[in-house]
Amino acid sequence: MSTDKFNLPSRREFLQTTGSLAAATMLSKIPLPTVHPGGSDLIQVALVGCGGRGSGAAVNALSTKSGPIKLVAMADVFADRLNSSFDNLKQSVGASMDVPDDRKFLGFDAYKHAMDCLKPGDVVILTTPPAFRWVHFTYAIQKKLNVFMEKPVTVDGPSSRRMLKLADEAKAANLKVGVGLMSRHATNLIELHDRVQSGQLGEIVLMRGYRMHDPAGYFESLPKPDNVSHVEYQIRRFHSFLWASGGCFSDFYIHHVDHLCWMKNAWPVSAQALGGRHYRQSPEGITYVDQNFDTYSVEYTFADGSKFYFDGRCVTGAQGIYSSYVHGTKGMAIAARANDCGGPSAIFHGQNPTGKPKWQSTDTSNPYQNEWETLIDAIRHDNPYTEVKRGVEASLTASMGRMAAHTGQQVTFDEMLNCEHEFAPNVDKLSFEGDAPLMPDETGRYPVPRPGLSPKREF
Ligand SMILES: NC(=O)c1ccc[n+]([C@@H]2O[C@H](COP(=O)([O-])OP(=O)(O)OC[C@H]3O[C@@H](n4cnc5c(N)ncnc54)[C@H](O)[C@@H]3O)[C@@H](O)[C@H]2O)c1
Repeated sequence: MSTDKFNLPSRREFLQTTGSLAAATMLSKIPLPTVHPGGSDLIQVALVGCGGRGSGAAVNALSTKSGPIKLVAMADVFADRLNSSFDNLKQSVGASMDVPDDRKFLGFDAYKHAMDCLKPGDVVILTTPPAFRWVHFTYAIQKKLNVFMEKPVTVDGPSSRRMLKLADEAKAANLKVGVGLMSRHATNLIELHDRVQSGQLGEIVLMRGYRMHDPAGYFESLPKPDNVSHVEYQIRRFHSFLWASGGCFSDFYIHHVDHLCWMKNAWPVSAQALGGRHYRQSPEGITYVDQNFDTYSVEYTFADGSKFYFDGRCVTGAQGIYSSYVHGTKGMAIAARANDCGGPSAIFHGQNPTGKPKWQSTDTSNPYQNEWETLIDAIRHDNPYTEVKRGVEASLTASMGRMAAHTGQQVTFDEMLNCEHEFAPNVDKLSFEGDAPLMPDETGRYPVPRPGLSPKREF
């Protein structure tokens, strides 16, 4: 398959590959064996969104130890993504896979076909860009499926309100739903949380989170090549477009937002923020067309007046800092020593993280595996389990900081929740033939945030 400089297959190649797999799809009427989750019976899994995280989540699912589990169906919008995920999974967890060609599905309705292969009580993994989360979750609930969905689960006010309703429906239907905010399953942070709650830091007065590194993922994008549709271009480069991902702020920074607010057991009531784009040109002098700022600095305020500062930066050559801290009246703690939730976490006597810590975590288990053990255990033992409401609240808190930076205004949690600007209103009807939720102007550029000039809308 030939690729252009963006590593995208041409539209013709896409249609050819899509066509052959879609034809196989039509032959798929082979019923799968009945499943009886609970006890040690087989749990079947479908993967929707076969990219990096989806493939990783499938490995985690199939590596759970509590009983038989099998991947039986896969869905994606792009054949190259599905095929490479299938090949990689085959090598690592092939013994736990039963995904013949007629259970590989492509296109915007592929998620339905993949879920149709499951029985009530099975599990679907939702790891597409977040814009599609509510669409796919709606169908999973209809099919009475348990769900693992990646963060962020929403990117704006309207989809957050929709997801909160769906969370209630899933709970009422006794469905188990895990959300990929894996900090909550990182043992170092669980232990730190217990210690913070028991008062070892005193009252929390300040928290700090930093994710500052080179441009990562699809943070920046050059103009769309002619041989690719708008929809394909934006979905493949989803970190560049606010409708698809909430941008780098929501997609990259939500983990620190989530675990620091957890330490406080509260969501901030408001945010004010700074942000801007220092570098809009590629080294070759071509103007990037994505919607991200390259620096963000957010001051979150909790109801008791205490603060949480978050700094995010995607700039080459600037100092890299990727860690988080909690300060209380009796001392301070390192929460994530590195990355999103990496340990060891530690508590110190004063306000400096120096000298011998009062306590330091020792557990090094993998939070991505832990979150799956917990979800599958809840399914097998029929324990109530849903992380969706919390996932929406973390997503909203991320959106609130992002919107404060993008508009140059203070934004409250309630204003974010009730904000009427829906970034992709008809995302459930998206097709490769139609317009994308965001269309460029005649120069190929998309609307970008203009703090101060656009105080009510982010773009
Ligand atoms: N918890 C974590 O640490 C973590 C890490 C990485 C990514 N993620 C999250 O996982 C999600 C996916 O990220 P990724 O890095 O795997 O991206 P990715 O681009 O590697 O994978 C996304 C996949 O979804 C497919 N897709 C897009 N739209 C689809 C649709 N409508 N139907 C079916 N398939 C569709 C894409 O073709 C692609 O294969 C994001 O929400 C991201 O924030 C979480």
